Amino acid sequence: MVSTYPVKVQPSGYQYLSIVDVSPNQQLLPLSAKVIDHDFLEIGGCDVKTLVQQFGSPLYILDELTVRTACQQYRDAFNKYYKGHSQVLYASKAWNCLAVCAIVASEGLGIDVVSGGELYTALTAGMSPDKIYLHGNNKSHHELMFAVETGCTIVVDNWYELKTLVAILLEQDEQDQAKKIRIMLRLTPGIECHTHEYIRTGHLDSKFGFDPNDLPEVFSFVSQQSRLHCVGVHAHIGSQIFERQPHRDLAAVMVQWLREAKQYNLELAELNVGGGLGIKYTESDDPPSIEEWSRAICEVVQNVCAEENLPLPKLLCEPGRSLIATGGVTAYTIGSTKTIPDIRTYVTIDGGMSDNPRPITYQSVYRAVVANKMSAPLTETVTLAGKHCESGDILIKNVQLPKTEPGDVLVVMTTGAYNYSMASNYNRLPRPAAVLVANGEANLILQRETYQDIIRQDCLPERLK
Ligand code: LLP
Repeated sequence: MVSTYPVKVQPSGYQYLSIVDVSPNQQLLPLSAKVIDHDFLEIGGCDVKTLVQQFGSPLYILDELTVRTACQQYRDAFNKYYKGHSQVLYASKAWNCLAVCAIVASEGLGIDVVSGGELYTALTAGMSPDKIYLHGNNKSHHELMFAVETGCTIVVDNWYELKTLVAILLEQDEQDQAKKIRIMLRLTPGIECHTHEYIRTGHLDSKFGFDPNDLPEVFSFVSQQSRLHCVGVHAHIGSQIFERQPHRDLAAVMVQWLREAKQYNLELAELNVGGGLGIKYTESDDPPSIEEWSRAICEVVQNVCAEENLPLPKLLCEPGRSLIATGGVTAYTIGSTKTIPDIRTYVTIDGGMSDNPRPITYQSVYRAVVANKMSAPLTETVTLAGKHCESGDILIKNVQLPKTEPGDVLVVMTTGAYNYSMASNYNRLPRPAAVLVANGEANLILQRETYQDIIRQDCLPERLK
């Protein structure tokens, strides 16, 4: 039997009938992916091989339809299942750039940023400060000042930060002394979930958030600060999670925090359950849909609030990966091949761990297709190697591909999250360009770095010249 790609792509001429029913995080390819003329992968109405000819290789390609659909599904699910107010925030660490921030803003989402750089990008893209939440476990003095000036909400992580913030406010000019700063408190909920240990954050031994045992002291301190308007609590338990129960448990624990706050005369009206919904990277991954995940959280918050006789808080969540990953693919050009008889064949592409550090960092597994041979039988099992001077720079082990040759365009799927945002210049490789595709149009959203960019920040002391 001849095997074919384990991904469903729309055949040529297929009309999208019910794309809104498809949860992007449960797909391997972007929602607009089609096969044209038997063999050619098209995304957003653009032929992938032509995109590579036009914009160069490697190339990040982002499908606008998939990203907008994910935004809409989160927004609509929270509106449908939650009786109080809600706000979905995009966790922009997954992919922060002007175009992505502008898309999520236009869909009515807010944004979670974790540094001055991400905050600056979100503001420049037009995101309203009242929809921006600044996270981070060691925000610098400068980042805190920047956040205070912009009026975004600061999610305070620890005592040091809380006290630094109070000191910053004291130093402000007299005319600013009447202004209140919106903060939330991040707490460690003590909830275990099954994911890679590097991306688990909710267990007690985590660097993030206040220890819940400190809650009385924290609430008491905050309630005495006239300049701080503490609006709620935040927690995040980890990333790439498939189970539904940990988030249900989290929501229930967090409602208890709201109840405790009342004893300190703090009326906390916002509850942010973080992000974490997983996505399908391989055929065997089976995450809940965006709607199922959202519904589970809305229901548990409503139920616990009813039991505790508490008013419904404004409910926030912060998806990153599940909102952007599936919309993104990375297109590479195949170059050299090395066959070691009876051992392995290495097929090498023109990128690697600098544009996608996830395999080497978390042993992440990806799937790939050859964009100009979509219907060719998958006769080869190869190891896809990157071009970096590092043996561990392997993108995918034992991937099934058709017979390839130099110049073929290889597409690695589900690379929209934590690829560009974690990319580096290792070996001084310029970072790839990125294009946004929709309705047959491709727009550059990140320029390809040049060799001039590579040395832009280098300084050569006079005596070395
Ligand atoms: N909120 C907070 C406070 C977070 O720390 C994160 C992710 C999110 C929301 C979004 O989580 P998501 O919905 O994307 O799972 N670089 C790693 C992932 C690190 C996640 C960091 N925090 C990776 O490539 O898998």
